[in-house]
Amino acid sequence: MIVILLGPPGVGKGTQGKLLCEAEGYEHVSTGDLLRSARREGTPLGLEAKGFMDRGELVPDEIIVGMVREKLQELGPERDVVFDGFPRTVPQAEALSRELNRIGRKVTRVVVMNAEDPILVRRLSGRRSCPECGTVYNVYSSPPEVEGICDKCGAELVHRKDDDPATVQNRLDVYRKQTAPLISYYERKPTVPVVEVDGAQDVDDVQTALRAALQERK
Ligand code: AP5
Repeated sequence: MIVILLGPPGVGKGTQGKLLCEAEGYEHVSTGDLLRSARREGTPLGLEAKGFMDRGELVPDEIIVGMVREKLQELGPERDVVFDGFPRTVPQAEALSRELNRIGRKVTRVVVMNAEDPILVRRLSGRRSCPECGTVYNVYSSPPEVEGICDKCGAELVHRKDDDPATVQNRLDVYRKQTAPLISYYERKPTVPVVEVDGAQDVDDVQTALRAALQERK
């Protein structure tokens, strides 16, 4: 399985990718999470990415492609991988295809997740994340037991800086201009099945739909 979860910010790529990978033993590769961990560690890559992320812009392709290549090498050629937030541009998609070709693999499914903007904006305004263990909550749909504190590790939860309303609007625009064209890019490829999942449903229903979409014969 090499699965790509494609969709706007807040549609639930991270939530669904983690659930699927925990249940199936797949590897969840989120370029957003990799960049945030590089920032926390203060690596040169993290420092370079910071400004782009805080403005809600895409980090340059060469940085992302190098980071993913390294991750794939670390995982080895056999692993089943769910990509979350990657690729986000045509050059990234082409680089992924070259990397997979090299190890004799190919993308098995592109899952396009969708929801209306008001839903996305509300989810992002309510998101709280644990900076220590990465658990993600939502004050509206999945709050922690004690407000502001991670249930799993007790750390203080944070509201991502790029989840402020102005940056969210920019991220939605960037998604439409730079990432959504990937849907037709993949649809034009006869060997890559593209499936759609309604991300507006509750978390369990989205997961059920995602699993069904992965099993559909194409
Ligand atoms: P990234 O971290 O990838 O952000 P994103 O794609 O904007 O996606 P999000 O993490 O905001 O949303 P999600 O769809 O994962 O939703 P989630 O499950 O968390 O990227 C951040 C930045 O890094 C980018 O802006 C860019 O600068 C850079 N970057 C990353 N990858 C890059 C790349 N490949 N190229 C260039 N730059 C890159 O859910 C959101 C909230 O909703 C949570 O609170 C969750 O609990 C809740 N929720 C989820 N599902 C449901 C549901 N069904 N019902 C109710 N609530 C729900």
